Amino acid sequence: MSPSLSDTTLTAPRYDIYAGIHKALRSMMNDTLFSVGRVDTNDANDMHETCERVLELTEILTRHLKHENEFIHPAMEQGHLGSSLRIAEEHVQHQTAISGLREAVSRLATADSALAKRRAAHALYHDLSLFVAENFDHMHEEEAKHNAALWASYSDAELMAMEGKIVASIPLAVNLTIMRWMIPALSPGERADLLTGMRASAPAPAFAAVLDAVRPHLSALDWSKLMLALEPERMAA
Ligand SMILES: [Fe+2]
Repeated sequence: MSPSLSDTTLTAPRYDIYAGIHKALRSMMNDTLFSVGRVDTNDANDMHETCERVLELTEILTRHLKHENEFIHPAMEQGHLGSSLRIAEEHVQHQTAISGLREAVSRLATADSALAKRRAAHALYHDLSLFVAENFDHMHEEEAKHNAALWASYSDAELMAMEGKIVASIPLAVNLTIMRWMIPALSPGERADLLTGMRASAPAPAFAAVLDAVRPHLSALDWSKLMLALEPERMAA
């Protein structure tokens, strides 16, 4: 019996350049949204930390938009003219929405009464929830339509090289933040593959810094699965 299309996709998947980073962004967006929803507006530390978290999210998302615009869309346009246009227009809207989120954070940080703080926190929560909803839809379209366009024009090796150029353009501290969100958001198998590859290519101190950044965000079970995958001999001893 010949395999169905879904069987073929499952047994011979193409390289998905969006998969890891989009899992990271979904996780970071969800967690940040929840932190805004439960912020204690009477607690100055919690307020400051929550505002900083939203600003950090906007920074990571701005970088992500830039990477897609500068590395992925031109490659898609080379393969098929016009294939990135619709999503590129949404990126312009997202940049405007990101500016709006920063203004909402500023209103929260400068609110001068208990009532004004509560109202500003609730307004930010709603703005961010709509932004997250729109982004989830947007990322799904990229993973479906943009991947199809990329796969039609590029080999897996070419897509991995494209991703390598994006990663090389990211400052180390920012990359650590991305790894902090990406690695816990992956399945154990994906996590082991990513870190095995990273261990083979990154300097030992950089690899250790990634493990240190990630460990507090993994359950004890997930951490032991990861250690078993990375150091099977030591874990068996
Ligand atoms: Fe995008």
